[in-house]
Amino acid sequence: MRVFLESVRGIQEGILNKNPSIIITSGKKSGGSVIEHAPKGMMKSLPIGFKKLGFSTHDLFDKIAKDASENFNVNHTQKQLNSLLGNCVACHSMYKIGLK
Ligand code: HEC
Repeated sequence: MRVFLESVRGIQEGILNKNPSIIITSGKKSGGSVIEHAPKGMMKSLPIGFKKLGFSTHDLFDKIAKDASENFNVNHTQKQLNSLLGNCVACHSMYKIGLK
């Protein structure tokens, strides 16, 4: 999750400096390929809505990287980053990890 924040920062920096290569590396770092690193037992215990939002967030990171590598457009990346941040906020407001 802290990597998410690092990636967001990298994407933002890429937008600021109009530098797609930072955006590509940062997006990939939080893309779908990292899902397999999640512990299997943990994945099973997560609510479905949580997983959906989680997967769609990884997908958005991948899409940001892909679009920046194929046809870089600062405004487009900025819009994508905005909807990505919407996912972060949505999930944080809906779910909390707590001890029962
Ligand atoms: C699918 C749900 C979900 C999404 C999407 C999500 N988070 Fe989180 N995040 C959590 C949960 C659950 C915690 C644990 C803290 C809590 O219980 O409130 C957390 C904690 C964090 C923390 C604190 C980590 C720590 O080590 O203390 C950071 C930073 C963070 N999220 C950043 C982000 C960013 C940036 C995004 C969007 C790119 C994002 N998160 C998207 C569920 C999510």
